[in-house]
Amino acid sequence: MDQRQGAWSASAKHKEFAETVSQAVQSSGDLYRLGLGMIASENIVSPAVRNIVSSDLHGRYAEGLPGKRYYQGCDDFDTIEALGIDLAQQVFGANFANIQSTSGTVSNIGALKALAKPGDAITAVSTADGGHISHARMGAVGLRDLNLTTYPWNEDRMEPDIDAACKTIREVEPKVALFGQSVFLFPTPLEEMAAAAKEVGASVMYDGAHVLGLIAGGQFQDPLREGADLMTGSSHKTFPGPQGGFLLSSSEDETFQRRLNNAMFPGVCSSYHLHHVAGKVMALAEFMEYGEAYARDTVSNAQAFAEALASEGFDVLAESRGYTASHQVLTRHGELDSGAGARAAKRLEEAGIITNMNMLPGDTKAMTPSGLRLGVQELTRVGFTNDDMQDVARFYARVLLQEEDTNHVRKDVQALKSERQTIRYCFNEEGHSGYPV
Ligand SMILES: Cc1ncc(COP(=O)(O)O)c(C=O)c1O
Repeated sequence: MDQRQGAWSASAKHKEFAETVSQAVQSSGDLYRLGLGMIASENIVSPAVRNIVSSDLHGRYAEGLPGKRYYQGCDDFDTIEALGIDLAQQVFGANFANIQSTSGTVSNIGALKALAKPGDAITAVSTADGGHISHARMGAVGLRDLNLTTYPWNEDRMEPDIDAACKTIREVEPKVALFGQSVFLFPTPLEEMAAAAKEVGASVMYDGAHVLGLIAGGQFQDPLREGADLMTGSSHKTFPGPQGGFLLSSSEDETFQRRLNNAMFPGVCSSYHLHHVAGKVMALAEFMEYGEAYARDTVSNAQAFAEALASEGFDVLAESRGYTASHQVLTRHGELDSGAGARAAKRLEEAGIITNMNMLPGDTKAMTPSGLRLGVQELTRVGFTNDDMQDVARFYARVLLQEEDTNHVRKDVQALKSERQTIRYCFNEEGHSGYPV
């Protein structure tokens, strides 16, 4: 008897595991295909990027940089990564790009490894004001054992209080002055604060994870020309690539550039997910063609959505500044720390609208916040227009203000979404639905 036979006949129990995971993947794809994905950190990739992400590169290794590898078999990948570095420099107007990072968080860990040593001081936006967990003691800042001081915050303008933040920087004399947020409605007034940082010898780091696509599309701000030495970010939020990250710099200093490359490999990555790097390169090529229009339409949709929500009677934050200049909209659904945001997100999910609860200024508890953070970048990518955003706001009102049966609303949500099944702003948009499995 063939001793290997047992290895070929799967047990019923193990087949069940396989079916469970396959079905859940299918079901998750259906949820987003027929629902409205409105989580501000998410996006969908083009069919061309999807093909690459599931290619043979998935199983390969290439430590080092193009032309300087530890492994054989990397000639084609050298072509890919060298092209990607060049395209990233062009798209972001950078003198240096490293495209190996496997996420925005990994980019930040690598950046802090390159810019600071344990025990150094850092200034950043507090998580309560919208800073990311990697900017906090519980995340990358703590991992690097840096001493964190947060900037005084201007709640009305939803940005650092410029004069007070400059004072903090001059007093603390940080090694790194870090800017950028997860709750990111308006460009950071960077120039003055970057100048204060330079006065005390700090490196200026800008985390553009959320807004990278808007920056590349020329629709938000231009940190590398406003004083940032280094910009980090995710490649899969408003930048519509596969999950991953970037390190981008305006510096021409080769020693600094080498430090950044070394921070990625061997610093924080061994395998750096070649299929995702190649997917990023395809996304960069597509972005060169369509990125400006995509970024413009995204911001325009966010503004149309904010206005439509306000007309429906919602409390939309930052009215005095025109609600938003990014892909995000913030709404308040009850008292501070009341959990009203969590309840709203749950009801919207029942109606097929996927969002996340979020702390707003004054909230102190992450799990019972009063608000929602909403993003329109994914809907924009499948062709939602300013007019569609009125319909979406109407759904929100039916679910959260009129408290209509969510099953009724879900039918209408699905009817609208089933007409928007083509991914736009990519090379093969004609008739391709390109959705997750
Ligand atoms: C400002 C900021 N930086 C970094 C990250 C982390 O990005 P990733 O999820 O790609 O690790 C996020 C995620 O939302 C973010 O908002």
